[in-house]
Amino acid sequence: MSALTATHSVDLQPLHTFGLPARARELRLLANQEDLRAFARMKREGQPFLLLGEGSNTVFTSPLVDATVWKVALKGRRYLGCDGVCHHVRVWAGENWHQTVEWTVAMGWGGLENLALIPGCVGASPVQNIGAYGVELKDRVSAVHAFDLDVQKECIFNLDECEFAYRDSVFKHAAQGRYVITAVDFALPVQWQPVLGYGDVAQRVAELGPLTPMNVLKAVSTIRTQKLPDPAVLGNSGSFFKNPIVDAAQAKALVQQFPNLVNYPADDGLVKLAAGWLIEQCGLKGFVLGSVGVYTKQALILVNLGNGQGAELLQLISHIQAQVQTRFGVLLESEPNLINK
Ligand code: FAD
Ligand code: EPU
Repeated sequence: MSALTATHSVDLQPLHTFGLPARARELRLLANQEDLRAFARMKREGQPFLLLGEGSNTVFTSPLVDATVWKVALKGRRYLGCDGVCHHVRVWAGENWHQTVEWTVAMGWGGLENLALIPGCVGASPVQNIGAYGVELKDRVSAVHAFDLDVQKECIFNLDECEFAYRDSVFKHAAQGRYVITAVDFALPVQWQPVLGYGDVAQRVAELGPLTPMNVLKAVSTIRTQKLPDPAVLGNSGSFFKNPIVDAAQAKALVQQFPNLVNYPADDGLVKLAAGWLIEQCGLKGFVLGSVGVYTKQALILVNLGNGQGAELLQLISHIQAQVQTRFGVLLESEPNLINK
C-alpha cells in the first residue's frame, strides 16, 4: 500500500457527481444521535471535517482531502397533519430529494413537483435553497431542524432565520460548519396552485392531459432529462455558475450593447442574467480543456469527459470567468462547493 492510500484510504470519486479523482482520510456515516455527538466531539478536538450529502453540488478539485468526510444518512419521513391550509410533512436529511418529491405527489400533496429530478438529499436542499421551473425550496419550507455541533443540541430555524435567497441561505454563511441539518418541514398547500410560467412547462403539461401535480412532475422530469446530462453517464454538477444578478443601470447598458441578452426581473429592482447565454456568446459552448469541458447542449453546465482532473477544471473555470468578464463586465460565481484542500 502506498503512503498516499494508507493515509487517504477513502475514494471520493464515486461520492460526487462530477467524478474527479480524490481521496479523503476517512469516511463516516451520520445516521443517528450517537454519530452526531461523535461528530461534535471531533469538531471540538479541532479535527478537520467536511459534510457531504449525495455530492451533486460538491466538487473535489484537490486530489487529497485532508479531512474526515461525514456523509448524512439520517432517514425517515412523517406526515405531521393538516391545518386546513397546508399538509405538513417532515423529512429527514438523508432521504433522497427526488424520491421525496415523488412520495409527496403520490400521497396527493402537491407543491414540490416543479423541483422533481433535482439530484441530492433533503438535508442539502436548504443549503442553496434549491430551485427550478419557477419554484424555490423557500416557497414550500416551514422550518429546518438542525443539530448544533458547538452545544450538542437540536435546534429549529424558522423561515426568516434560514435567510433564503437565490441559491443562498444562512447555511452557506453564519451557520456553515456549525449546524448539521437533520430534517426539513414542508408546508404543502391544500389548495394546490400550479406553477407553469417557466419555459414550455405549461405546454408539456397540456400534452400529458389533466392539470395535476403528477403531470407537472412528469413534464418537468421530461424537460430535465432532455436538457441536462445524466451524471451517471457524464460527470457534472448541474449549473456550474449562478445566474449573475446586476443592478438596473448595468442591465440597461448591457441590453443596449447586446439587444438579445437573456434577462429576467429579480427582487428589489435587480436583474438576473442568463449565465448560459453569456458563456455561449463567448463561443465557449462545447469548449474542451483536457478532459473537462462546457456541455454541448447547455453552456452553463461543465462536464467531466471521462478522465477529468481538478487542476483542469480550475483552469476551465478561470478561463470562462475571464472571457465573460472581458466581454460583458460580469463576474460569474461558481454554484457548487469547490473543495480545494
Ligand atoms: P452535496 O453536494 O453533498 O452538499 C452540498 C452542500 O451542502 C455542501 O456544502 C455540504 O456540506 C452541505 N450539506 C449537505 N448536507 C448537509 C446537511 N445535512 N447539513 C448541513 N449542510 C449540508 N440545484 C438546483 O437548485 N436546481 C436544479 O435544478 C439543480 N439541478 C441539478 C442537476 C444536476 C444534473 C446536478 C448534478 C445538480 C443539480 N443541482 C440543482 C445541484 C444539486 O443537485 C443541489 O444543490 C442539491 O441540493 C445538492 O444535494 P447533495 O445532497 O448532492 O449535496
Ligand atoms: N441559454 C443560452 N445558451 C445556453 C444555455 C442557456 O442561451 O447554452 C439561455 C436560453 O435563452 C435559456 C436561458 O439561458 O432560455 C435559461 O436557460 P435554462 O432555462 O436552461 O436555465 P438556466 O438559467 O441555465 C436555471 C438554474 C437551473 C434550473 C433551471 C430551470 C441556475 C444557476 N440554474 O438554469 O438549476 O434547473 O434554471 O429553472 O439558476 C442548478 O442550479 O444546478 C440548476 C440546474
